[in-house]
Amino acid sequence: MSKEWEPRIVAFFCNWCTYTAADLAGVSRLKYAPNVRVIRLMCSGRVDPQFILDALARGADGVLIGGCHPGDCHYVEGNYKALRRFRMLQRMLDQMGIERERVRLEWISAAEGEKVQRVINEMTEQVRALGPLNLPGKFEEWDKEMEALAARIAKEEAKRSEAEPAAEKKEA
Ligand code: FES
Repeated sequence: MSKEWEPRIVAFFCNWCTYTAADLAGVSRLKYAPNVRVIRLMCSGRVDPQFILDALARGADGVLIGGCHPGDCHYVEGNYKALRRFRMLQRMLDQMGIERERVRLEWISAAEGEKVQRVINEMTEQVRALGPLNLPGKFEEWDKEMEALAARIAKEEAKRSEAEPAAEKKEA
């Protein structure tokens, strides 16, 4: 029997707040869905939109970014930068036909273990409802489509070059 699909979520958490809160949730035995792979960064402002696109391209179904509350960033404005990038990324996702709900940004302080639990559980259910993103599979399909297109063009080109020398002879 094939294993039932489970959402895979990559979480980029700021070391000073959300990562600590995730630790606190663990210590406090606040269980959250095991679907999240946490990656720690020193600040949410370090989350390059390319990291998010890479995570999705490599098979993640959703990405969660966790940073310090506005005014609490240890690098002063890193979380505002994260917010600007997040908004820009949402527009990119629209253009790529990827649901915005697959990427979420949350401010979670070190003391908010319960919020980490709630956000992870909510996001897991939201992504579950959206279903698999499967970008790697889509890339494979796209590769096959492009191969078929290239083969069709090569065939047409071959036909054309069969016809063209005759036309050239006529002109000569
Ligand atoms: S240090 Fe936490 S968001 Fe900047």
